[in-house]
Amino acid sequence: MKQKLEELQQKLHEYKINSSEDLENFRLKYLSRKGLMNDLFEEFKQVPNEMKRDLGKLMNVVKISVQEKFDEATEKFKSNKTENTNSNIDYTLPAETTELGSRHPLNITENQIVAIFTKLGFTIAEGPEIENDWHNFSALNFPPNHPARDMQDTFFIDEEIALRTHTSSVQVRLMQQKNPPLRAIMPGRVYRNEAISARANCFFHQIEGIYIDEKVSFADLKQTLYAFVKDMFGEEVAVRFRPSYFPFTEPSAEMDISCQICKGKGCNICKHSGWVEILGCGMIDPNVLENCGIDPEKYTGFAFGMGIERITMLKYDVKDLRTFFINDTRFLKQFSNL
Ligand code: PHE
Repeated sequence: MKQKLEELQQKLHEYKINSSEDLENFRLKYLSRKGLMNDLFEEFKQVPNEMKRDLGKLMNVVKISVQEKFDEATEKFKSNKTENTNSNIDYTLPAETTELGSRHPLNITENQIVAIFTKLGFTIAEGPEIENDWHNFSALNFPPNHPARDMQDTFFIDEEIALRTHTSSVQVRLMQQKNPPLRAIMPGRVYRNEAISARANCFFHQIEGIYIDEKVSFADLKQTLYAFVKDMFGEEVAVRFRPSYFPFTEPSAEMDISCQICKGKGCNICKHSGWVEILGCGMIDPNVLENCGIDPEKYTGFAFGMGIERITMLKYDVKDLRTFFINDTRFLKQFSNL
């Protein structure tokens, strides 16, 4: 055993530890549970007592040498490691950039419209996209045979349930839930069974507005909408109202503004008329108020509804409605500074 120990001491002297891998191998070979040192201690237990004294001393010397060699190398490779990591980083390299997303143009427009009406004292209301016939049609005075109920225009789920075709269903819900005075706008997605083209899509977005109180007049409607378009498109915008028809308003009108693309001179967008339609509006039909539990003798109100896509197209000169839904980042990025 003495010879074994002396040999080991000699080998230890020659053992080269040049990397952290060598160090690990060294640890496994000498210091682990199944390593040489443990074997030697096992063997030492068998040694006759009278030899233990001398051999014990030698064992101790070897043990200390192994431990010292291991500690020294550990120290060396630990500090080397940190130095290495440090030197591998090039602090002069440009940092990786995180690309910021931007708001969708429809979102930008919706936020602008909401901000303007909030200033005018309107609150925001929302309703479900899957609606029953009563909220989407009947309560709004659509007769049972009205063409809008036709399969061509509406996505029916069954006889009674459909995807809402306009946000006017939300005004019905609001009138049922709350008593006048009511002043709210209702943004949301609506669905129509239309062929997809540059001007139409099977879903789009609207903002509806209502104001119901005692003595609300058509003059209030006009002033509110004037205030809105001037804020939205600038002071110079010209406005006109044309008589129109909706089952749920009487009288009804459509509002045109001077074409923002050609400034009224005439172009493709305004079909050379200088005017573009932006919304439908009117005084809420007394039947509708009654259907929703509001006394039409005491209260009057106005309602309006506009397409968010249409306003966005006019404001930012977008020629094809489909670009809003394709999510091409080259298109979307053009709105990143708004
Ligand atoms: N709901 C109508 C549409 O979808 C718009 C509208 C709303 C008209 C409110 C008048 C009053 O076309």
